[in-house]
Amino acid sequence: MIQMYLKLNDGASIPQFGLGVYLVPEGPETVNAVKEALQMGVRHIDTAHAYQNERSVGQGIKESGVDRSEVWITTKLWPTEYGQGITEKAIDKMLNRLDTDYIDLLLLHQQVGDYIGAWKDMEKAVQEGKVKSIGLSNFESERLEEIYEIATIYPSVHQVECHPYFQQNTLKKRMEKYGTIIESWYPLGHGASDLINEAVFTELGQKYGKTNVQIILRWHIQAGNVVFPKTTNPQHMKDNFQIFDFELTDEEMERINALDGRKRYYHSTLAEQERFAQWTPAD
Ligand SMILES: NC(=O)c1ccc[n+]([C@@H]2O[C@H](COP(=O)([O-])OP(=O)(O)OC[C@H]3O[C@@H](n4cnc5c(N)ncnc54)[C@H](OP(=O)(O)O)[C@@H]3O)[C@@H](O)[C@H]2O)c1
Repeated sequence: MIQMYLKLNDGASIPQFGLGVYLVPEGPETVNAVKEALQMGVRHIDTAHAYQNERSVGQGIKESGVDRSEVWITTKLWPTEYGQGITEKAIDKMLNRLDTDYIDLLLLHQQVGDYIGAWKDMEKAVQEGKVKSIGLSNFESERLEEIYEIATIYPSVHQVECHPYFQQNTLKKRMEKYGTIIESWYPLGHGASDLINEAVFTELGQKYGKTNVQIILRWHIQAGNVVFPKTTNPQHMKDNFQIFDFELTDEEMERINALDGRKRYYHSTLAEQERFAQWTPAD
């Protein structure tokens, strides 16, 4: 099975396609989804402390029989774990939950709390070898530039809502000179039927013998985004990974690019994010 890798600004190679496990409960569902994905050739799992399923991700990796060195694990710190000294301890707990010696990619999940203190501890964790790459999620305000100002290691990725209806081109420009790349959350609009049933995807699906979802995922790959659609359905999982045997033409990419700006599916103000971030995920 083919897998594509992207070079990050710190030199690491990230598998461009993965499995997201947001809203997949801790226990057999997560263990089996991770195991199944790895056994079919997927090499990248995206989780977070807030998803409360890191233990099952670790277990699924072990049970898959795939060597740890071949698997890319991304996880995310929650704002209640931000701050110098505090983040350091939170990382140790994460390593323990994931049952691993290192995390491939660690992100700040939200742009609130003591994100500067947290970034310093994340840089320290890189020096100590506990974490290989570090990045951000949901830093769409000017707080992104604040991180660039204090960083000795620039964020390697920025995980944000991104799909054909909301392509994040302005954000891409803001990050270009630092070499930070986009990871797409809601790559399928969280399964939104208006996005998935868009006529251009149906037409291109017929041309290539692919589903609409496969056309959307192929667009992400050619747009240079890292992508990890969530699914616990084995057929969907197989389909989602079958996107490396065809290529959209430049003109077809342009037709999809023209859908940009229609909508984003998730909206929240900074004040709402501050309130939401007061919730504390269990250890
Ligand atoms: N950093 C953040 O704040 C943040 C926020 C949201 C998400 N994320 C990350 O991004 C990942 C993906 O986002 P998401 O899970 O919210 O949304 P998504 O991947 O855009 O959509 C998931 C939905 O699409 C369906 N689906 C998947 N493959 C399909 C296929 N081949 N055909 C038809 N339907 C299909 C899934 O249902 P089935 O399970 O039935 O296939 C599920 O309902 C998450 O798991 C998480 O890792 C990060």
